Amino acid sequence: MKKNILIIPGDGIGQEVTEWGKQVLEVIASKFGHEFAFDNAIMGHTAIEATGNPLPDETLEKAKASDAILFGAIGHAKYDNDPSAKVRPEQGLLKIRKELGLYANLRPILLFDELLDASSLKPEILRGTDILFFRELTGDVYFGEKTRNEDNTFASDLMNYHRYEVERIARKAFEAAQTRGKRLCSVDKANVLETSRLWREVVQGLAAEYPDVETEHMFIDNAAMQLVKNPKKFDVVLTANLFGDILTDEASQIAGSMGMLASASIGDGTGFFEPIHGSAHDIAGQDKANPLASILSAALMLDIAFGLQEEAKAVTEAVDQALKAGWRTSDIAVNDTPADRILGTVAMGQKVIELLKSR
Ligand code: IPM
Ligand code: MN
Repeated sequence: MKKNILIIPGDGIGQEVTEWGKQVLEVIASKFGHEFAFDNAIMGHTAIEATGNPLPDETLEKAKASDAILFGAIGHAKYDNDPSAKVRPEQGLLKIRKELGLYANLRPILLFDELLDASSLKPEILRGTDILFFRELTGDVYFGEKTRNEDNTFASDLMNYHRYEVERIARKAFEAAQTRGKRLCSVDKANVLETSRLWREVVQGLAAEYPDVETEHMFIDNAAMQLVKNPKKFDVVLTANLFGDILTDEASQIAGSMGMLASASIGDGTGFFEPIHGSAHDIAGQDKANPLASILSAALMLDIAFGLQEEAKAVTEAVDQALKAGWRTSDIAVNDTPADRILGTVAMGQKVIELLKSR
């Protein structure tokens, strides 16, 4: 198979971890006889520094022309404490999501048994959890009109949804549920928000078309609680952009660390694959970041963008092997992890590459 893959490392630890997702793709190409051609592009703070624009036209053009994108992370501490900054790294990510029509963000909560003790939750609560989040990604309060009055005493962000926006992601979530545990939980705040009432109405309407899927509706506040109380009760979770952003960070603790979770953003065209973690400037450049989320994002690309299930499985299994052998980065180490098993970004990346090559 011949594919053009665009690598956008972005900011902070994105620069360090994306290298390993890319190397994994290279090994897969040579092992399975595929031809992956790679190109690079800039985005976020890195792009603001170089061009003044968080998403330069050149990056967007390359993105549109590629078959899949492997992205790292975005953001810089300097903007977090400066709410008045008009040009912000995150604008690059939001714009590329919109421009590529990436309306469905899939975030699988993939649990490796070896990491049950890395979570702050009890292993018996976690064991057997397997959740697939469908977070809507191009609508909601993220993209609604933003205002600020002249004397700076009032601000607003408009939360809005069109029926078609809810329907297209709901269909994807129902279809996924059919191939998994056949349970779908739609999360909203329909007791308060009009957008949520429309959301619920649309999902209820579609449920009739998927009679083999057991559909449930849950308020976001309750879902946030149920997720740590009994995560096993969930199979596919469907939710809006902001709720999904918050809920999936919470859910990452089920998998032990944000450093383990990959995501796939799909929609009308080129798919976009990225860890759910941020740019983590506090540990950037120190060889501390966990490269496994980037590596697992590469696996999601193989599976979802290219339909290469066997190749994707080889990557996931190599990660599993590394963990089974006791290798840890510091975010997934526990008190009794021997010091000589705790690796930096590069060493962990190399371990997975070695294991993948020797399969
Ligand atoms: C994510 C991130 C982004 C979001 C930020 C960086 C804009 O938190 O992908 O979850 O809020 O969507
Ligand atoms: Mn987030």
